[in-house]
Amino acid sequence: MAENKFDVVVIGSGPGGYVCAIRCAQLGFKTAIVEKNSSLGGTCLNIGCIPSKALLDSSEKYYQAIHHFKEHGIQIKDIAIDLETMMKRKDQVVKELTDGIKFLMNKNKIQVFNGIGSFYSYSTDKIEIQIHNNDKQEIIETKKCVIATGSQVITPKDIGLNVDIDGEQIIISDHALSLKKIPKSLLVIGGGVIGLELGSVWNRLGTAVTIVEVLPDILMGLDGKMRQIARKSLEKQGLKFLLQHKVIDLQKKQNSVLSKIQTPKNETIEIETEKVLVAVGRKPYTTGLNLEKIGVELNERGRIKVNEHWETNLKNIFAIGDVIEGPMLAHKAEEEGVAVANYIANKYAHVNYNLCPFVVYTWPEIAWVGKSEEKLKEEGIEYNVGTFLFRANGRAKGMGETEGQVKILADKKTDKILGVSIVGPYASEILGEAVVAMEFGGSAEDLGRSFHSHPNLLEVIKEAALDVNKEAIHK
Ligand code: NAI
Repeated sequence: MAENKFDVVVIGSGPGGYVCAIRCAQLGFKTAIVEKNSSLGGTCLNIGCIPSKALLDSSEKYYQAIHHFKEHGIQIKDIAIDLETMMKRKDQVVKELTDGIKFLMNKNKIQVFNGIGSFYSYSTDKIEIQIHNNDKQEIIETKKCVIATGSQVITPKDIGLNVDIDGEQIIISDHALSLKKIPKSLLVIGGGVIGLELGSVWNRLGTAVTIVEVLPDILMGLDGKMRQIARKSLEKQGLKFLLQHKVIDLQKKQNSVLSKIQTPKNETIEIETEKVLVAVGRKPYTTGLNLEKIGVELNERGRIKVNEHWETNLKNIFAIGDVIEGPMLAHKAEEEGVAVANYIANKYAHVNYNLCPFVVYTWPEIAWVGKSEEKLKEEGIEYNVGTFLFRANGRAKGMGETEGQVKILADKKTDKILGVSIVGPYASEILGEAVVAMEFGGSAEDLGRSFHSHPNLLEVIKEAALDVNKEAIHK
C-alpha cells in the first residue's frame, strides 16, 4: 500500500480515538491517527480526567492531614500547600501518560499526524491535514474513517450570559486545573461532575466554594436517596449548594465577579466571588472537519448521527465518543472505539450501554451503574432493595473512612441485579465488582454468596447483596 494510503484513519486521539486506532492495528489494518494538539490523549488525558484526579488526590491528602491525621495519632506542625509543586506533579502525571500513548502508537505501527484533519474537498476518502506548526498540508487516502473529535466546553454565551471566558476571572475546567494561586472564593455554575470534582479540589485547599445548580438537585441521574447522602457529605466539608438557582448575569469587577442569581422564588440575589467557574456541560466538537461539504448528518444537538454500528449516513465514515449521542465519558468512548474497529473487521460488535458506570471522584466517591429506584418505579418494575453502611465494615472502620453506603436494587421475581449505587471510600473501584456481576446477568444472591476476603471494603457490596433478601449478617 502506498505510504499515504490507509485502511483506517482515526481523527482525534482521545480515549475513543487512540483505543480505536490500537484495536484497528491489532486487527491488521494499516492505521493512521490525526491529532490537532501537540500531545496525544485528548481532553481526558491533557485537561480532564487525569489532571483532575491528580489534583483531587493531592488536595485530599492535604485535607486528610489537616482534619483526620490527628485521629490516627499523627501530629504534623506547620502544614502548608506548595501549589507550584502540586501543579508540577499533576503536569508530570499528564506527561507520562501522554508519552505512554505516543509509545503505544509506535509499538502498534500507527502513523501519527500532528495537525488539523478535515475531509478534503467533496471526497469522503481523502483527509487533508494542516500540519501543526507548519504551513504544509498533507493529503492522505483511507478506506474507512472514524471521527473521534470529542467535545468542547459550553460557554457562558451558550447559556445566555454576556461574558467571555477570560481564563482569569471567568474560567472553565482547563483553567481551574492550573490556577497559580488559591482563590479566596469561587462560584461554580453547574452542580455536575466537573462542578463537584473541581469544587472539591479548591474547597479542600481553602477556597470558599458555592455551587449553583439549575435543577432540583446535583447528579440527577443518581438514585434519589444516595444523591442526598452524597450532597450532605459534601456540604459537611464546606461546599455550599444553591439548588434550583440560575445565574442570570455576570459582571466583571477589578478583582472579582458579581453574579446575579435567580432563586426558586424568582427573587434575585447577588454573590461576589474572586472567580467564576463555568461547568454546565460540553457540546460536540466538529469544527473544521468539513462535514457540511461531504454531507455527514448531525442531530438537532449538533452530535453526529450514527446507526447501531457507529456508521454515519455516509458509508465508510464512522463516529464514536462525545461527538455522538450518549454520556460524554472516556470509558464509553473507549468501548465504542474497540467495538467500531471490530465491526469494521468482522461486521460484529456490541456495547452494553445499560451497564455504563458513572463515577464522581469526590471524597467520599460517588459511583453508580444501572437503574435508580426512581427509574424502576417509572418503568413499573418491581424490585427489592438491599443497603449496607460503610460504618459497619471492619476495613472502613480501620481506615477511618466510615461515611456512606451501598444500595443494591434487584428484580423482585428473579433477583437479577438492576442497579447499584455507592457513596463511600473508593466507590469507583468497588463499583467494578457490581458491573461485572451485572454483565454476567448476576443475581443479588450470586454476589452475596461469593467469597469476599476479610477485612475488605468490598464486603459492603456482599452485605448489601445479602440484605436484598434480608439475609445481611452484620446489619
Ligand atoms: P455535567 O453535564 O456533568 O453537569 C452540568 C450541570 O450543570 C448539570 O447538573 C446541569 O443541570 C447544570 N446546568 C446547566 N445549565 C446550567 C445553568 N445555566 N445554571 C446552573 N446549572 C446549570 O457537565 P460538566 O460537569 O460540565 O462536565 C462535562 C462533561 O465531562 C460531562 O459529560 C461529564 O460526564 C464529563 N466529566 C466526567 C467526569 C467523570 O466521569 N468523573 C469528570 C469530569 C467531567
